[in-house]
Amino acid sequence: MTKHITVMAGDGIGPEIMAEALKVLNGLIDAGLDVSFEEHLFGGAAHDATGSCLPDATLAACEKCDAILLGAIGGPRYDSLPREQRPERALLGVRSKLDLFSNLRPALLYPELASASSLKAELVADLDLMIVRELTGGIYFGEPRGIETTDGGEKRGFNTMTYSESEISRIAHSAFRIAEQRNGRLCSVDKANVLEVSELWRETVTQIAAEYPDVELSHLYVDNAAMQLVRAPKQFDVIVTSNLFGDILSDAAAMLTGSIGMLPSASLDASGKGMYEPVHGSAPDIAGQGIANPLATILSLSMLLRYSLDESKAADTIDRGVRQVLSDGLRCQDISGDQPAVSTTAMGDAVVAAMAN
Ligand code: IPM
Ligand code: MG
Repeated sequence: MTKHITVMAGDGIGPEIMAEALKVLNGLIDAGLDVSFEEHLFGGAAHDATGSCLPDATLAACEKCDAILLGAIGGPRYDSLPREQRPERALLGVRSKLDLFSNLRPALLYPELASASSLKAELVADLDLMIVRELTGGIYFGEPRGIETTDGGEKRGFNTMTYSESEISRIAHSAFRIAEQRNGRLCSVDKANVLEVSELWRETVTQIAAEYPDVELSHLYVDNAAMQLVRAPKQFDVIVTSNLFGDILSDAAAMLTGSIGMLPSASLDASGKGMYEPVHGSAPDIAGQGIANPLATILSLSMLLRYSLDESKAADTIDRGVRQVLSDGLRCQDISGDQPAVSTTAMGDAVVAAMAN
């Protein structure tokens, strides 16, 4: 049966990088892959066209399909909208409405790109770590939240960091299972020395560890984890953490690999349905110039085919194509250093050509 993908290019560099991922997807479909896709408006682009960043038709398509491929959303033009109308809220809305609680953010260093890392080559050689970020709870969604005016006439902003046992337990199981398939080490990151919510997090993760005797569990406070990530990142295999801590640590981990422009991510529900997107944002500063790196989006498509559509052969073909263009020396400007850089479209064309070999 034909599987269906909902494609949302979004804002900023989103349409440019998505065009290249769709070249790759169309190439696979022409070669026999039984998949169809439909493009939908999302984010600022949707707001411009319909007045809403998450139109009903887009949400319905996301609910109906087998997997979602997203480019990027947001931009300075939309920062002045009321908070609940902004693109970021639409993204959080899709995550929450589809219950995409398990966010996988790999940080993998391609040997060809070791010199692009901000750390010394020996600290990052062969780096391969996975951050499992809880995505539908914590302080991002906790109530009460708001900005109020106190009796004294002063404004006061507040949010709530909250996790129930079941929310902690399902993300912990997800992370333990990933650690089992990798190198068997899981580090849970919290702030249990200060926060009650973290105390419950640590207690729950520790209890669940008994069900995974092959996984070695450790714990770090988030401040120490941030330090360890830039001091000795290869000590990590899988990191599991809450929504806010994962947001911050995953950007740091991404930069260890040299370019955030290379990293895909997956956000999965309990059944394995997911939304796949590059870790980087919409980069409005370089939008429209044809220089953005499309590889993170192309690799997100590969993850989508592998994890949600069970099409590992097609995913392997994409991964091989990407490795080939890197070993051929092709670089977009984010990782080119002093070398000449290729354009977004030239990179996409090169991956399609390499996949055919
Ligand atoms: C991310 C982004 C989002 C987040 C923003 C755009 C809402 O930074 O996916 O990491 O904070 O989750
Ligand atoms: Mg982020």
